[in-house]
Amino acid sequence: MCGIVGYVGHQEVQDILLSGLEKLEYRGYDSAGISIQNDGQLDVIRAVGNLSQLKAAVEQREADGGVAVLVTPATTGIGHTRWATHGRVTEENAHPHYDPEDRVHVVVNGIVENYMELKQELLDSGAAFSSETDVEVIAHLIARDLEEHGLVESTRRTYNRLRGHYSFVAVAAEEPGVLVGARKECPLIVGRGDGEQFLASGIPAFLAHSRTVQALEDDELVVLTADGARFLHADGTPFERDTYQVDWDADAAEKGGFETFMLKEIHEQADAVADTIADRTVRPDGVDLPELDDELLRGATRLIIVACGTSYHAGLIGRYALEEWARIPVEMDVASEYRYRNPVVGPGDIVIGITQSGETLDTLAAMRLARERGATVIAVTNIMGSQATRDAHSTVYTRAGLEIGVAATKTFVAQVAVMYLLALRMAELRGTLTPERRTELVTRLKRIPHDIGVMLDKGSETIDRVAERHFEKEFFLYLGRHVGLPVSLEGALKLKEISYIATDAYAAGEMKHGPIALLDQDTPVVVVATDSPVLEKVISNIQEVKVRGAHVIAVATEGTDLGDNAEDTLRVPPTDWMLQPLLAVIPLQLLAYRIARLRGLNVDQPRNLAKTVTVE
Ligand code: F6R
Repeated sequence: MCGIVGYVGHQEVQDILLSGLEKLEYRGYDSAGISIQNDGQLDVIRAVGNLSQLKAAVEQREADGGVAVLVTPATTGIGHTRWATHGRVTEENAHPHYDPEDRVHVVVNGIVENYMELKQELLDSGAAFSSETDVEVIAHLIARDLEEHGLVESTRRTYNRLRGHYSFVAVAAEEPGVLVGARKECPLIVGRGDGEQFLASGIPAFLAHSRTVQALEDDELVVLTADGARFLHADGTPFERDTYQVDWDADAAEKGGFETFMLKEIHEQADAVADTIADRTVRPDGVDLPELDDELLRGATRLIIVACGTSYHAGLIGRYALEEWARIPVEMDVASEYRYRNPVVGPGDIVIGITQSGETLDTLAAMRLARERGATVIAVTNIMGSQATRDAHSTVYTRAGLEIGVAATKTFVAQVAVMYLLALRMAELRGTLTPERRTELVTRLKRIPHDIGVMLDKGSETIDRVAERHFEKEFFLYLGRHVGLPVSLEGALKLKEISYIATDAYAAGEMKHGPIALLDQDTPVVVVATDSPVLEKVISNIQEVKVRGAHVIAVATEGTDLGDNAEDTLRVPPTDWMLQPLLAVIPLQLLAYRIARLRGLNVDQPRNLAKTVTVE
């Protein structure tokens, strides 16, 4: 998830780009860059780190003098703030990217899934690449056609050769005052002005200059000149797009129109899963994880997963998938316990540390201990270059983009997606699933982002009603079995951390060994009862709860009859039962969210919690 911005008009472009990027920095801050069109050439400045590093680089250039961009006021340019997905955090991998002859510069948000094949084609025709990214191919392809077709048509042709999800803006040295933008499944918005036009992945980037906007849809391109915007379908047919007025204040704009970052991030979960699985699920009957050595995965005798908090819950789901699909023993522990229990670990073991921040001290310590004892260590993290990536032998990245809300939401679903990818990869290498079953699972997994999107778009009156009824309660019990158990644990953690309501989450079968004593007429009991081979058992547990008079709130698959046992049922779309956690967690996040809001709490920054826990 990166931020892109473009401007063409009559004002000095550099400051407009830099202030636009400032407003998009929440989308990523690994590196940033701008390209400015001036006197038939394109000047690029890029820097690793957050925007202040780019500003320092710009000032340095200014001090050095002699660079066209800084000497002559220029009025067309593009900018980018990067959240690294493909390629390390280096200046070479920072955007804008360009072709070897420096004729076309592009800024891109998203992932080009078929970049390997496009890159190979370009390499075969003698091209040299200057970055490790998946998106540099876009600049090369546009530049290759430029002579014959001009910028607009070359961009359109290039767009039609790409697969994946992305939005991008291109500018050519030899076509002054023109920007071309294109969109597929990643946001790109036009801001209209008088003699000036803006293009960005988020409205905040230009809100100070324009409130008249036009949103691009999938498979659409826009051509911007100072005088206006022209729209094209990907097949080249022109069309008109209505404008609308934005009345948000700057704060609301940064949250994409949502009332909080947490709610915005809950709504970004379809993208988080889609980005995370993207190019890794291109084959119909398998998964590609080139980051991991096949021999290592094939030869492993045991996996050990260590993590904290929400990441631990993602690991628990991973354990079920790894055992079920790859038939490998998996041990799982919270990192703070693992590191102090003198664990039996060594060569032959693979230890997986899951940490969205990549900086959680306990998880790092557990990973280091395992490495010292001879295990191979894999990090699963959302942050490129974080400490976990340095402590591990290899890293698999989640691609959730920057998460600002302290309570983890989109990073959780992305972690779960990575664990499914790993389990499918290992199952293929170890021959434990048939190609038919793998195909079925890959197909189902690829459908999950769509299902998440539909669920979130629909909203849920039931969630609102349940929240209204129970938001003043002092205690909630959560129950689940099998993969429903980690979902319950995660639902309970979300509620306690943002609403400060005491929660307990239990394996449903354990209920009568203790927690049942907590139930009375008032207790809300949330039960994850999605379709699975253990559903009947879960329904029996629901009945046990019901006869004690407690209120049952069930999470169930659409179309499954739970009888009249649950007082309220939060429905999720059907999918393979092992993949249900990716859907079932969403109503629980929303329920926690609604309750916390009804209690008037700051969900983005709950008391006593920090986004990154770098102390024991
Ligand atoms: C819960 C939450 C925490 C983190 C935990 C681990 O919403 O955010 O429980 O999951 O502190 O953090 P990472 O994943 O950064 O290691």
